[in-house]
Amino acid sequence: MLEKINNLLHEVESFTAQTREQVEEYRIKWLSKKGEISVLFDDFRTVPNELKKDLGAKLNDLRNKAQERINEFKEKFEHSNGDVKSATADHTAPGYPTIQLGSRHPLSIVKNEIIDIFSRIGFTVSDGREIEDDWHNFTALNTPENHPARDMQDTFYVSLDPEMVLRTQTSSVQVHIMERQKPPIRTISPGRVYRNEAISARAHCQFHQVEGLYIDEQVSFADLKQTLLYFAKEMFGAETKIRLRPSYFPFTEPSAEVDISCTLCGGKGCNVCKYSGWVEILGCGMVDPQVLDNCKIDSNKFKGYAFGMGIERIAMLKYQVKDLRLFFENDVRFLKQFTSVSK
Ligand code: DAH
Repeated sequence: MLEKINNLLHEVESFTAQTREQVEEYRIKWLSKKGEISVLFDDFRTVPNELKKDLGAKLNDLRNKAQERINEFKEKFEHSNGDVKSATADHTAPGYPTIQLGSRHPLSIVKNEIIDIFSRIGFTVSDGREIEDDWHNFTALNTPENHPARDMQDTFYVSLDPEMVLRTQTSSVQVHIMERQKPPIRTISPGRVYRNEAISARAHCQFHQVEGLYIDEQVSFADLKQTLLYFAKEMFGAETKIRLRPSYFPFTEPSAEVDISCTLCGGKGCNVCKYSGWVEILGCGMVDPQVLDNCKIDSNKFKGYAFGMGIERIAMLKYQVKDLRLFFENDVRFLKQFTSVSK
């Protein structure tokens, strides 16, 4: 009997199961009413009294170990779909999720990547507000009432007295930051903006921007250009080139618009870049001294650059999305495609 117990103990200790069915098979083999261990318990009755104590302890130990093994494997398969791999699963791995996890929205993925890229070169992240007063959205940014630049940004008014708007640009955050912080300032501000525009494949009444601002004693246009080149290469790949075209914004002087070499054809010409080889990604410039003064920063001592980009635009170029409305419809067939890039 001792030999049988020892043999079975060995079998129990080296037992592994590949499937739920195998666990059940061994439970029946060892522990069911007619199972091998139960039969040993029956035989135990006929064992001479002087051996009972020793053998009884061994038999109990065998039954407990067998039950433990069975429970252990049962539990393992309960949390899995019962396939082979799970029997040899990594016990230190996190638990199986009971609900299927979603993925990040492509705009969040791109926003996080922009934040990542700029934080690597010392930019902090600042938050602003979506309901803004006229001063922060327009006037402090050199865009007084009746200024033609206001026409470019069809504004949603929340109230007329006092004049409150849904911000049309994240440039408004610049003003808040400069009003409350002393230079050096180096920050980016991502957020939602609103414009009263007809919804189409290329425009929406709500979208997202990231504003960048750097103020210090010796900031030059060359710094701006180099920072944007670094950004373009990090976001779109090391071979990406940039070019700056002179432009106009009320709050920067000089101002420029920045193009990158087309992400699809690499500059050869295709229908994404309208056969020019270049696509526009952002506006930028040196902060107009008047804006610094408006925010009580000494424009004789400090200089700065600013830039602003649309997150949808960056995402469309990066992922070849042709219709901006897709970002707001939340069709899971569209969103699912970003599972692998979710961070
Ligand atoms: N706020 C501008 C827009 O919405 C973008 C922009 C251009 C921001 C130039 C800037 C800048 O900071 O310097 O079109």
